[in-house]
Amino acid sequence: MQILGIESSCDETGVALVQTQDHDWPLLLAHALHSQIEMHQAYGGVVPELASRDHIRRVLPLTREVLSRAGRTLADIDVVAYTRGPGLAGALLVGSGVACALAAALDKPVLGIHHLEGHLLSPFLSEDPPEFPFVALLVSGGHTQLMRVDGVGQYTLLGETIDDAAGEAFDKSAKLLGLPYPGGPGLSRLAEQGNPTAYKLPRPLLHSGDFDFSFAGLKTAVLTQSQKIGPQVLQECEPARADLAASTQAAIVEVLLKKSMSALQYTGLKRLVVAGGVGANRSLREQLNAACAQRGVRVHYPELHLCTDNGAMIAMAAAMRVQAGMSQPTREYAFDVKPRWPLDQTA
Ligand code: KG4
Ligand code: ZN
Repeated sequence: MQILGIESSCDETGVALVQTQDHDWPLLLAHALHSQIEMHQAYGGVVPELASRDHIRRVLPLTREVLSRAGRTLADIDVVAYTRGPGLAGALLVGSGVACALAAALDKPVLGIHHLEGHLLSPFLSEDPPEFPFVALLVSGGHTQLMRVDGVGQYTLLGETIDDAAGEAFDKSAKLLGLPYPGGPGLSRLAEQGNPTAYKLPRPLLHSGDFDFSFAGLKTAVLTQSQKIGPQVLQECEPARADLAASTQAAIVEVLLKKSMSALQYTGLKRLVVAGGVGANRSLREQLNAACAQRGVRVHYPELHLCTDNGAMIAMAAAMRVQAGMSQPTREYAFDVKPRWPLDQTA
């Protein structure tokens, strides 16, 4: 079975084709991606209407590109999967509208996929896929969650952020440091030259005894600290900026690390999966690797280029759901998107 996947929940248009296999995880045949980051950079963040319009422009050329790279035609597609939510309503509607129209024209069924389930299952696209059960740390621009994952579609929420997501904390702090949107990768590059103990920043909810996170206070602390240093000094002095970047990253990483270790201890599981854009962060990976090695825990990440949004993870999640009997693709082309949709309600 060949499944086309379309991702359009935010500022990346992604399309991919996967093929199910008899005794193995589905195989990625081809994928193509267009990032809108440059377009949104002028505004310092995602402009939803511009995002929707750009998805409209990109999705069909990307689909043609994927089919040609895979050496397949539209007639080879058995199911059209799309991101149903969560995300920007207008952006989601583009993906679901195109998916439903394409599937109806081909007389094939559609399947709406949860965006975070795509992230969660994206390590299965790597050469060293995890085995169930595992603890998942989902760290993206919009979500920060710890889940217990017992199988495809079997997700129990252990804890999540009560305000900003980890990616948002990176992006908002980076903005205060004068870095362009999205600031996560830039802040982490700057942090490599800085001293992570230069400034004392809060580690919110570190000792709360649960698995929840809170990052909203961190950006306020970064703002206060940058005012103390002085905007002029920060602008002109790269080492001061690097120190503040390193201290911010250290605060975010320490909380993610400690809570992940507590979740592993609480569940007794020996496997951790890290997914979502912040999962590309080098310091987070290094510290998780070290802590997991100490505890005899295997840690899995998606390949670096599949950490941020892409179509491959949506096609993969759809194929895995169909293979596991968790979802039945349908010929009801309802394109009812779910801009808000808890991950433990995908069954
Ligand atoms: O998963 P994703 O592509 O989109 C959402 O579903 O939200 O994650 C994007 C987020 C952004 O906040 C971005 O700044 C962050 O991931 N990010 C990083 C890095 N690469 C991407 N944050 C820290 N370090 C990185 N290397
Ligand atoms: Zn995402």
